[in-house]
Amino acid sequence: MNNNQPRSIFPGEVFARTADFDKGIRQLIPKYDEMLDTVVVCLPARVERILELGCGTGELSLKLLERFSTAEILAVDYSPRMIEWAESKIKSAGYGDRWKSSELDFGDWANNREVDPVGKGYDACVSSLAIHHLSNEMKEKLFKKIKNSLKPEGVFWNADPIALESPQLTEIYQTVREDWTTKQGATLAQVRAKIGTSNDYGYSSHDQLATMEEHLQMLQTAGFVSVAVPWKYYGLAVIGGWIDRS
Ligand SMILES: C[S@@+](CC[C@H](N)C(=O)[O-])C[C@H]1O[C@@H](n2cnc3c(N)ncnc32)[C@H](O)[C@@H]1O
Repeated sequence: MNNNQPRSIFPGEVFARTADFDKGIRQLIPKYDEMLDTVVVCLPARVERILELGCGTGELSLKLLERFSTAEILAVDYSPRMIEWAESKIKSAGYGDRWKSSELDFGDWANNREVDPVGKGYDACVSSLAIHHLSNEMKEKLFKKIKNSLKPEGVFWNADPIALESPQLTEIYQTVREDWTTKQGATLAQVRAKIGTSNDYGYSSHDQLATMEEHLQMLQTAGFVSVAVPWKYYGLAVIGGWIDRS
């Protein structure tokens, strides 16, 4: 793992140094673990093949591998630094034989009809804190691609920031975030000082938040027959659904 990293990072990497991610994200994102745990608990017990989009340092992968003792994951990320970090943690935890990674931009994957390095036949697709870097048009394309990669009755859960219902609630959420970070023993300013400068990459750029209703609509348009929001906390939500039997 290389700590002498350049300050220019991919959208979604968040911190200039990958080594700061696991602690920093828990200081920055209220209830980060609870949100990821919701994704895990919403997967069917029989899940075997999981596709993860934007795996980062592997925190969601680790939770999945721990709970589903025979499941295999293909974890996708466009950042080689994040994949390297995740791989090292997953191997140390003893899960290396059930976890594979692919250095891939899921925006490209959504747009490309010719080549499919991800394949099909997944029981589940999951993602956390990654898809909101795409425009709504691209999110919809991605949701269609995800739908087509799933087996009948497959499931997709996305834990991501969402646009809040009103400016007043957005202001309240800001206070909630400050209080959260204080309780973790830091200030938002201290944590934000560790954030890197990202350049747009492929189809991903700064936060492009959709409302909860837009997410649900996009999922339905993509072919998810049953959609749901099992968890929401101010500007964060776990949103997804199931496809049909055929
Ligand atoms: C904030 S991190 C979250 C990582 C992990 N899912 C978690 O919750 O801890 C977002 C990750 O998504 C990746 N990412 C964002 N957009 C992507 C894209 N279009 N293709 C592949 N990876 C992407 C970033 O490189 C980063 O590692």
